[in-house]
Amino acid sequence: MTKVLFVCLGNICRSPTAEGVFHDLVRRRGLDTDIRMDSAGTSGWHIDAPPDSRACAEAKRRGIDLSRQRSRKVDPADFERFDYILAMDESNLADLREICPAPLLGRIHLFTSFAPKGAPTDVPDPYYGGNDGFAQVFDLIAQCSEGLLTHIIADRQKHG
Ligand code: 4NP
Repeated sequence: MTKVLFVCLGNICRSPTAEGVFHDLVRRRGLDTDIRMDSAGTSGWHIDAPPDSRACAEAKRRGIDLSRQRSRKVDPADFERFDYILAMDESNLADLREICPAPLLGRIHLFTSFAPKGAPTDVPDPYYGGNDGFAQVFDLIAQCSEGLLTHIIADRQKHG
């Protein structure tokens, strides 16, 4: 079993979208029983809230349901529980690195490190912008998700 955690600031826009997109991809590849995923926020500002309605609408438009997700804060135990911890931007990455036990730092990655060459470094925070920001974020997340799954499958084959 490989466990993946997506992390952003509020856990209501980017990381729930990443969880939904990645889950859809894993399910379509028939890997549902091998790869599990969750998402969390560094801030805890929106604990128990559903994803932002604009994130839900964009995902729904692409056939993905985010409505059952609820926001939670990153927990120190997450660094033990999850094999891959994906930060949506450099700020999330810095916040995660600060609270992660040193031996587990290798589990934390910038999500865009799995995107094709030329992609931006950050999945930009769409919260204060317009609806087109949510569409762009969705596209970038879809690209990162493909790259991440390819990496995980290769890693699982390498390590058995
Ligand atoms: P997220 O977006 O980190 O992608 O969930 C945000 C959601 C809420 C806030 C900032 C970013 N906020 O300031 O409340």
